[in-house]
Amino acid sequence: MDVSVKRRLRLRPVTWSDKSLLEHWDSQPQVIAANPNERWNWQAELGHPTDWCRQYIAEHDGHPIGFVQIIDPAREESGFWGEAVPGLRAIDIWIGEPDQLGKGYGTTMMQLALAHCFAVAEVNAVLVDPLADNRRAHRFYERLGFHFLEQRRMGGDICWIYRLERHEWLG
Ligand SMILES: CC(C)(COP(=O)(O)OP(=O)(O)OC[C@H]1O[C@@H](n2cnc3c(N)ncnc32)[C@H](O)[C@@H]1OP(=O)(O)O)[C@@H](O)C(=O)NCCC(=O)NCCS
Repeated sequence: MDVSVKRRLRLRPVTWSDKSLLEHWDSQPQVIAANPNERWNWQAELGHPTDWCRQYIAEHDGHPIGFVQIIDPAREESGFWGEAVPGLRAIDIWIGEPDQLGKGYGTTMMQLALAHCFAVAEVNAVLVDPLADNRRAHRFYERLGFHFLEQRRMGGDICWIYRLERHEWLG
């Protein structure tokens, strides 16, 4: 990976002005493939910020290249994560444009997101939920130190749940 990616990439909070960009990214094939049964309602997402959900745009040299969401599964209002215990965080991530995949941006975005998660003292572990057939995402999370926990139905999807404990985090 280009080591300069780490210096050139940052996460900043989403704003209302990101709405059309996020809607555009939602129509990209790699984003649809990772979440084929659900479309995000950005009007609702951006209009109702909550303290259990943090959403970020990743910028490389100031250019938006991807999205990261960190939620507290125990407080998430739809019950998507079922009966989650406190002390966890869950991350969603995608790169917006297909030609920006595989350049190391996602790895750096996850490292920054994990640092955000574990900066909270009571957070013990972080979860991710790629589709069961998203083999490249499985490899991506395994390289970051996540271990496979279980297969679970999440909404309408069959997902593989991965978990990274605080003591396994290489931050
Ligand atoms: C997963 C993802 C965030 C990784 O970011 P990235 O910048 O492409 O990843 P990096 O360059 O840091 O690392 C490369 C690895 O990312 C993964 N990856 C690359 N393209 C991918 C894609 N289209 N879908 C899923 N994973 C992908 C692979 O593991 C790849 O390693 P490989 O080339 O050995 O297969 C990004 O590929 C993506 O947005 N994929 C589509 C959405 C997605 O699958 N999100 C995760 C679902 S929970």
